[in-house]
Amino acid sequence: MDMQAPPGHGSARLVPPVPAPPEQELPTLRFIAAMRVNGILCWPASAYDAPLRRRRLFGRTRFTVSDPDLVRHVLVDNAANYARTPITIRLLRPMLGDGLLISEGTAWRHQRRTLAPAFTPRAVETLVPHILSASDEAAAALEGPAARGPVDLFAALQRLALEIAGRTMFSVGMARHGDRLRSFLEAYAARLGRPHLTDLLVPLRFATPLDRARARFRRDWVAFLDQVIADRDQGQDGRHQGEARDLLDLLRAARDPETGRGFSHEELRDQVATMILAGHETTAVTLLWACTLLALAPETQAAVAAESGHVEKPFTRAVIEETMRLYPPAFVLARRALGSDRLAGETVRPGDSVTISPWLLHRHRGLWRDPDAFDPARFLPGAPPVPRFAYLPFGAGPRVCIGAAFALTEATLALSRIVGHFRIERADARPVLPAAVVTTQPDHAPAFRLTRRM
Ligand code: HEM
Repeated sequence: MDMQAPPGHGSARLVPPVPAPPEQELPTLRFIAAMRVNGILCWPASAYDAPLRRRRLFGRTRFTVSDPDLVRHVLVDNAANYARTPITIRLLRPMLGDGLLISEGTAWRHQRRTLAPAFTPRAVETLVPHILSASDEAAAALEGPAARGPVDLFAALQRLALEIAGRTMFSVGMARHGDRLRSFLEAYAARLGRPHLTDLLVPLRFATPLDRARARFRRDWVAFLDQVIADRDQGQDGRHQGEARDLLDLLRAARDPETGRGFSHEELRDQVATMILAGHETTAVTLLWACTLLALAPETQAAVAAESGHVEKPFTRAVIEETMRLYPPAFVLARRALGSDRLAGETVRPGDSVTISPWLLHRHRGLWRDPDAFDPARFLPGAPPVPRFAYLPFGAGPRVCIGAAFALTEATLALSRIVGHFRIERADARPVLPAAVVTTQPDHAPAFRLTRRM
């Protein structure tokens, strides 16, 4: 780890460790193996300089785009030509049904228009009390374990993110359903959510053996979600009638501004699953990486703690933004070309895959000064603006994350509460390395020492 202070820097320069990239382009089978275990290892060092890369995979070309103008072309200017990939649909549909994340075309447009008002910054404000209460309770619950010894902060942050997702969605804590929800998510992520070779080779219209297991999983999952929604509706006490108190109320009240149509029960349930899934793991890893970085950067951590008593939190927010630059929770945006296109003189054919990796883009040698160093000042008010299409933690264009405003508020407030409550240090010296499958995870759950601040 490089802790040298370059001239002119107030605090020590911190370059957190990353796995060494392969020296050369990997052969196909090793490339697939890397995709399953750690997507970061799919790219050789030269990928961090290249604007556009291509490789052949199973008879199709796979482009990796890391040039801001080309990114804008794919995600915005010609977005209609780029759809979700079959593997994304195969892996996510059993969990998300036909919710916003994987729907396409008219169905997607209807859903996006209908859902948008529930995610404006004003709507997010109504959810802030849930974020604060869950964060304070999580900090209080850590006091006992922290007094006894090192704690598994990642597990605590995953519980917190799920608790926030549950409360913002249903207004009730996850005490009753949290354990089952967690075991569904863990079981899916451990096996069915990972791409198997047959998933890549067999067209979507044919079921692979894993697809049959996924269908069985979906039956249980849907029954579980229906139960949670029914329990929440039973628990309504009538005091809040007419007033939206959580996301479920907002989603129920939502109407397509063009057609006046609302969601059916099944559609509502798929949106609930989508929001819980899209929102909680991404936030949990953001918080874990932020804590890991702050444990290595005590002065930065002190500045976050000092800000915890303030209403405005520009520095804490900059720490979150810089954390998502170094460890973008959504590690690739994957697309399939519907029609032909041209990218920097190369021909894209229908069916080719086009990948944009926030990971590569955020550490690209040509786009950032000192790309591997942790420096929240890049995101402080007054700093030179960050180029829009070089920084994509939430994607861009019509399919940009609908929960971005919510997620930024959530992560900033939760980090502020936790760091305001505890001084965070690592309990051992083992480096925490990123391992990306769908999200950018830590390679192990690091042990932390938490000391209550007076
Ligand atoms: C730190 C937290 C989060 C990160 C980094 C993140 C990242 C992203 C990214 C990169 C995309 C675009 C994917 C693509 O273009 O292929 C996306 C889409 C989406 N996100 Fe998030 N997200 C976060 C939190 C949330 C939350 C809290 C919610 C909901 C409550 C949410 C709901 C969604 C949905 C529904 C989509 C699909 C939008 C569409 O296809 O129209 N996300 N997210």
